[in-house]
Amino acid sequence: MNNNAYLKCIDPDCGLEYPIKSRNIECERGHLLDVKYKKTPSPDLKELFYNRRNPQGNIFNESGVWRFRELLNFCEIDTDNKDECSKYLVSLDGAEGRQSKPYHMSKVADFLGMNQNCLWLQPEGYNPSGSFKDNGMSTAVTHAKLIGAKRIICASTGNTSAAAAMFAANENMDCDVYIPAGQIAPGKLSQAYQFGAQIVQVKGNFDDALAKSLDDAKNQDGYTVNSVNPFRIEGQKTIPYRAIEYLNWNSPDWIVYPGGAMGNISSCGKALMELYEWGWIKKIPRIAVIVSEGASTLYDLYNGKFEGKKLRWNKGKPDTELIENYYTYLDRNGIRPQTKATAIQIGRPANILKGLRSLEFTNGVVAKVSDAEMLDAMSIVGLNGFDCEMASGASPAGIRKLIGEEIIKKDDVVVGILTGRQKDSSLAVDYHNDPANLFAIPPRG
Ligand code: F0G
Repeated sequence: MNNNAYLKCIDPDCGLEYPIKSRNIECERGHLLDVKYKKTPSPDLKELFYNRRNPQGNIFNESGVWRFRELLNFCEIDTDNKDECSKYLVSLDGAEGRQSKPYHMSKVADFLGMNQNCLWLQPEGYNPSGSFKDNGMSTAVTHAKLIGAKRIICASTGNTSAAAAMFAANENMDCDVYIPAGQIAPGKLSQAYQFGAQIVQVKGNFDDALAKSLDDAKNQDGYTVNSVNPFRIEGQKTIPYRAIEYLNWNSPDWIVYPGGAMGNISSCGKALMELYEWGWIKKIPRIAVIVSEGASTLYDLYNGKFEGKKLRWNKGKPDTELIENYYTYLDRNGIRPQTKATAIQIGRPANILKGLRSLEFTNGVVAKVSDAEMLDAMSIVGLNGFDCEMASGASPAGIRKLIGEEIIKKDDVVVGILTGRQKDSSLAVDYHNDPANLFAIPPRG
């Protein structure tokens, strides 16, 4: 180890630093951490990353995550040395991120009222466990292995647990997953069982499950792999890397994500901050995060819908009291997050501060969409021959809304992330069985 990589608290006034092998997910004053690298990577790497698309029998070139390994080299290995890669880097035979790149989808573009050449959608559902989580789980489990952890632990609305259980099974680690009982898609639950995880059913919602899993991780020496783990964020940076690389390192105008715990926008923001600082991109894309109307914490706080104050990162001095007041208000009034898009049914986004930092850096926006809008968007993606789950429908549905509000312009270049694959078949069946739905093709006979 040559100490190029280390952990640093995100609060600029605190700034505590820790060695890379630290197991902490927050500093001792309770702030989230970033993985930092001292050296600036050479722009020549762009060519190397491109050439690795011909993997030449190396699974770490095949992997859409580890293809960019020089930018995530927290293990500080010789990235050219295949044996070292095999010893340290966790990969599902190069499958994580391998199939992910942006596509044009003409029917979706028409529905959104966009120029077809300007809209790109990047399906992350074709990852081995069926969602974007594999990008971050391969790196988080790599860190778990680096520090010798034997048991990983997470709370989940379903996709995190599927990814965690899959990588744990492959690495011969134990995996405990805390799920809100009765609130996750059956396909996701069955994955966790299939991959041999220990399911812990929590009465309540995801927020309750996360609180319990974090407590138990501390008390029972588990390694947390939720997106509060800074190494998850590192792997998820490769989602925008792949999109921007595909556009020849020309930034799009917008990158659009569904928002839940806000891990994805945290990682996108960090990726963009770094690329911009290194001079790899000249323009900063704007992040749009789309939440469900029924789980709209970030929308309400960011847009001044609560106490009339707009919550901002504010150069590292966010009004955290406003957040606490909002949570108290939710609790007092018995308001629980409620949406059929259970993946993003989250009231207390654990990465809200990193999310705000990303929004500040990118001059981002937060929009909200209804369940019906997400289902229509999910369905029109299907009519283009791509599969996505309801929460992923928030990306196109949100783009449509923001175009309607003239925040996104029709000829802006937009990359929307389709975060996961359909794992609740009843949603698509019910949608198409109801002729009243916009894109329904009801059965005949
Ligand atoms: N889309 C899908 C399909 C998800 O599963 C999630 C989160 C999100 C979007 C939101 O991403 O949390 O980074 O803002 N699912 C988590 C889970 C919470 O447990 O699987 P985020």
